[in-house]
Amino acid sequence: MLSSLIIFGTRPEAIKMAPLVKAFKSQPEIFNTKVCITAQHREMLDQVLDFFEIIPDYDLNLMKPNQNLYSLTADIITELKPVLEDFKPDYVYVHGDTTTTMAASIAAFYSGAKVCHIEAGLRTFNKFSPFPEEINRSITGRVSDLHFAPTETSRANLLKENIHPDQILVTGNTVIDALNYSVKKVTSPAFEDKEVNTLKEIIEPDKQLILVTGHRRENHGEGFINICNALKEIAKSSLNYQIIYPVHLNPNVQKPVYELLKGLDNVHLIAPLSYPAFVWLMNESKLIITDSGGVQEEAPSLGKPVLVMRNTTERPEAVKAGTVKLVGTDKNKIIAEALNLMKNKEQYEKMCKLHNPYGDGKACERIVDFIKKLQ
Ligand code: UD1
Ligand code: UDP
Repeated sequence: MLSSLIIFGTRPEAIKMAPLVKAFKSQPEIFNTKVCITAQHREMLDQVLDFFEIIPDYDLNLMKPNQNLYSLTADIITELKPVLEDFKPDYVYVHGDTTTTMAASIAAFYSGAKVCHIEAGLRTFNKFSPFPEEINRSITGRVSDLHFAPTETSRANLLKENIHPDQILVTGNTVIDALNYSVKKVTSPAFEDKEVNTLKEIIEPDKQLILVTGHRRENHGEGFINICNALKEIAKSSLNYQIIYPVHLNPNVQKPVYELLKGLDNVHLIAPLSYPAFVWLMNESKLIITDSGGVQEEAPSLGKPVLVMRNTTERPEAVKAGTVKLVGTDKNKIIAEALNLMKNKEQYEKMCKLHNPYGDGKACERIVDFIKKLQ
């Protein structure tokens, strides 16, 4: 029996780890699986746990309002010690590049467990973009024993860092496993959702829908002011456009967004949506403007064009395919690119290609099969 501890802390990690939790738990005769959440996020994490019906075995409940990187990192490492000593896992699974990922991988390494990195090998090779995620994932890569890379590009990045090829498996991104599960639920005739019903009341069917999300630390301050001013101009340019923006709960995001965008008729600022409602809304949108990593991966599978408000991306596959475009946080560039797509049918249709560069929905199956063979 292999004991596995799956650790995560934020909304995107939870979405991308949920199908893996289900895959391990579906084979209880082989795997003794437990889930530990740091709760680096609280409300936004709980939304995901509710939807995927995951009850954590350990909840460190660490989120503090406007938390900082120093104390969060220290708290995660300290609070994981008794969990690791209690459960003594053979394998610890961490995901991606958050503070939870980095700190949990170090704690797992201290405990003597084998560290498995899901969504391994993403790199921009720019220490400050995204900050601190590029360094978080590099540190996790350094202490990991097994690297589950979503694409060939991420595998190549790991090989360049002298990781042995036998320690890497290309799996596709588990986000597509989660997306497929959710799309199936959202599009079934029996699907009833309070948040979707509220969205249906807000959305005016004759208007063109632009969906916006944003949270990156390196965009806090000036970046967010530019982003909001650009959205204001886009909204003002035509009353036929309707912007819906579920605002991330980070106070460094809430403050500028509500101060600069509140009160505009065709801009709807709403609370973060639960995953199925957000998937439903992505599907309804004409254009997505975001700085999110996960949304960049999901949108191509839904055939939705994305403008990414960053100067770098660790997800070059969809940019190469022409369905995702980097626009940075320059106000004029965001306005020009968004209006170009809203007005120019030919340009728009070129960016609508439905494709799946990030996976086929079988990533978790591949990970579980790989681990099974190590017994
Ligand atoms: C974190 C991750 C980032 C990831 C993002 C996903 C780090 C350093 N950052 O950024 O990599 O892309 O999550 O969304 O790991 N808050 C709430 N409720 C919540 C969540 C957040 O109130 O459910 C507020 C709190 O005041 C919290 C603050 O947001 O202190 C910041 O949360 P934190 O996880 O430190 O940073 P994010 O910007 O969310
Ligand atoms: N998401 C969600 N509700 C929202 C906004 C986003 O469930 O209101 C989902 C989205 O589908 C994606 C993930 O959250 O799977 C992305 O999270 P975020 O942008 O916070 O983090 P990142 O992916 O940039 O690390």
